[in-house]
Amino acid sequence: MASRVEETPDVARVNLANTLENIAKVIRPPPDAIMNWFCIMCQVSAVRLFQHWGVFDLIPVGRDGGISYADLAAKVDAETSLLYRVASMLTSTGVLQHVQPDKLAHTPISLLLRENEPMGSMFKVMYTNVLETSTILPQYFDTHGRKEPVDLNQIPATFLEGKPELSFFELLNQDPAKMKNFMRAMSITNRGRVPITGMYPMDDVIQAANAQASPAGAPIWVDVGGGGGHTVKTFCLTYPDLPAERCVVQDLPEVCKAAAEQAKEDEVLQNVTWVPIDFHKEPPIEGALIYYLRHIARDYSDAVLFNILFNIRQAMKRPDSKILIAEGLAPSTPPLPVYAAFKDYSMMAIGGKERSLEGFKSVIEAAGLELSAVYKDRDTPQAIIECSLPEHMYSTGAQALSTGDLMCNIPTTDVS
Ligand SMILES: C[S@@+](CC[C@H](N)C(=O)[O-])C[C@H]1O[C@@H](n2cnc3c(N)ncnc32)[C@H](O)[C@@H]1O
Repeated sequence: MASRVEETPDVARVNLANTLENIAKVIRPPPDAIMNWFCIMCQVSAVRLFQHWGVFDLIPVGRDGGISYADLAAKVDAETSLLYRVASMLTSTGVLQHVQPDKLAHTPISLLLRENEPMGSMFKVMYTNVLETSTILPQYFDTHGRKEPVDLNQIPATFLEGKPELSFFELLNQDPAKMKNFMRAMSITNRGRVPITGMYPMDDVIQAANAQASPAGAPIWVDVGGGGGHTVKTFCLTYPDLPAERCVVQDLPEVCKAAAEQAKEDEVLQNVTWVPIDFHKEPPIEGALIYYLRHIARDYSDAVLFNILFNIRQAMKRPDSKILIAEGLAPSTPPLPVYAAFKDYSMMAIGGKERSLEGFKSVIEAAGLELSAVYKDRDTPQAIIECSLPEHMYSTGAQALSTGDLMCNIPTTDVS
């Protein structure tokens, strides 16, 4: 049975699990629904404690893997009885398992919580941004008023650290270990939830990459806020005609430095160019065909996103230049699916938010761009929103734009 489940594609498994959870929601008596939250709170707390003690990295991996409570307790310098109590929260919820009554072993879930696993890193990010931040939210809103955080700084995540004058990424930058953890968390590739490729038709991009007319070395693909380069790598591997040499990743100087160093070991990424940027303050490098912006919009309010798009627009020097915003699309009417709702809620800590297509459209148009197409993934809310220069802009070399007349027809295309 287990291997049958593992052979089923992630998307189908996620959809079935969501359906079963929806059934459970209807069946569960109300008090039990709340008791169930207590269980989740304890489970999350136990995971964080075991991450902190390094437990997930000390349990042997493999078919015969497993470690006795006594041996594990000795390794983490804890009482065996204490370790057993914490572990019970995880064995009872299927995060860990017993191979013998006194021997603890991994499950496929706990393997993902080890130190160098992107999902384990994401768990730490969410723990801080949601749970730790929840302890100061009442005080935060008492101080700032009961309104959405819209600035780069003065946000719950930096208020939590007693440094409200900083933005989220300025705070991260002060702590190399946290920044490293964040970058690792960003490299999660979860086809079941968040596909990267398979949405945008790459024909024009590939054609441009092959075109004689393209000046040698001119960038085709600029990944703005591309972090460690995992998305650019996915594109280059999926579309071998997109040469890594014509791809650029731009990110904060410290991120670029670390990523470029790591990239030396990587067959694809060693050919990518890394160029530092502060996208709040300056345009990316000029003249690329594609400016790709994945999971950046959600980190910011409309005002901050407007500024980023406006800056990128300054770099779009060819009429066919596009900005591709890769994000999940939230429905414009309630109720939000829980996945969209939790992302939106958790983004509030850093001053960001989830958007519907209408939410994107208004910011894109305010920045003097045209929302020219939307390519939606068939199985998930993930989409690529294509933004183009309005025709009158490149014909006049346009500076100031009137955005009032920029109504466009938005085709929603399903490319699978
Ligand atoms: C949520 S991550 C997204 C990373 C990547 N695009 C992805 O899809 O996994 C946000 C990225 O934006 C970068 N970033 C944050 N502030 C920035 C700034 N002011 N200028 C350039 N990059 C920035 C971060 O370092 C990080 O790599």
